[in-house]
Amino acid sequence: MLHRNAALVALGAFLLLSFAIAVTVALPLMQEELYAADEATPQYSELALKGKQIYQREGCFYCHTQQVRTIPNDAAFQGPNKRPSRPSDYANDNPVLLGTERTGPDLKFVGDRLPSKDWHIGHLKNPRAYDPRSIMPSYAHLPEEELEALAEYLISLRDWSVKPLQQPERLADLTEEDLPEEFRSLQNPLAGDLQRAVAIAEPIVAQSCVACHGQDLRGKQLTERVKSADWYERAQVRSEQFLYWAITVGSKEGMPGWERSLTEEQRWALATYIKNIQQIRP
Ligand code: HEC
Ligand code: HEC
Repeated sequence: MLHRNAALVALGAFLLLSFAIAVTVALPLMQEELYAADEATPQYSELALKGKQIYQREGCFYCHTQQVRTIPNDAAFQGPNKRPSRPSDYANDNPVLLGTERTGPDLKFVGDRLPSKDWHIGHLKNPRAYDPRSIMPSYAHLPEEELEALAEYLISLRDWSVKPLQQPERLADLTEEDLPEEFRSLQNPLAGDLQRAVAIAEPIVAQSCVACHGQDLRGKQLTERVKSADWYERAQVRSEQFLYWAITVGSKEGMPGWERSLTEEQRWALATYIKNIQQIRP
């Protein structure tokens, strides 16, 4: 009697498992349109694929995921299309490096947030220069070609259906003459309301700007070659429109563009803050 029951339970367990595998693995696998490549799928160059191998070898995925979920916590990691990742995003990935631990930020759309190779190479060499509290290891010991390949891979991690940010090489070399036409005629919506601009800007400055521009906002040496801007000095030579543009698009030199992570009003508040910094923090 007992023996017969055991056989029945085993059969039941087997059927249940087979059914579960059929529904969660076999059926989706047959629906190829679910995971076929589309215009948003990353296309990896040879250099980027070499970078991916180094990413695997160095175990970057121990600390970084590449999967953006639908929950509000993941909103900061969504790409420019404000969506979670989907199966087609991985069509050109084998193996797929989803990761499980999120000690550092999700990197599925990092190329949209940070499109500059120089930024990535500088950050890989010295993460603490960009965020003093960072616990990411330094990869300064890797050969220059490997850092280049890693950076190429990281900037490929983006939604390919959206044009990458167009960034100038180096803002410090530019003058008002270089300000794109469409920014020149913009009106500052916070003009005449300095108090409101300061109220909006102050928490953002503390959270997102002082790490690179220094607590005193007088600029900081980030790498041997790259120095961030002294806000007091720039306030004297830049228009609010120029500052708004610089904050919006950033530069290949290592200033991140904030178009996709801050609202227009927040960017204007920051431009107004910098323009009036002498008065706000004498
Ligand atoms: C011990 C955990 C750890 C490891 C290993 C690690 N990182 Fe990080 N990473 C972090 C943390 C924490 C941050 C956030 C602070 C910072 O920006 O440095 C970060 C930030 C980043 C960022 C910036 C992302 C953003 O949106 O600001 C990139 C790009 C990055 N890491 C790439 C890599 C690569 C490539 C490797 C492997 C070569 C790697 N990381 C290995 C912890 C790690
Ligand atoms: C990861 C480091 C980093 C962070 C974070 C950062 N900056 Fe910068 N910033 C730089 C660097 C580097 C430059 C110099 C870039 C250049 O000359 O191309 C710069 C330049 C600028 C300039 C251009 C000055 C000019 O007219 O030439 C402005 C404006 C600016 N930053 C504002 C901000 C604001 C506002 C924030 C916070 C929301 C911020 N930055 C956060 C690194 C950073």
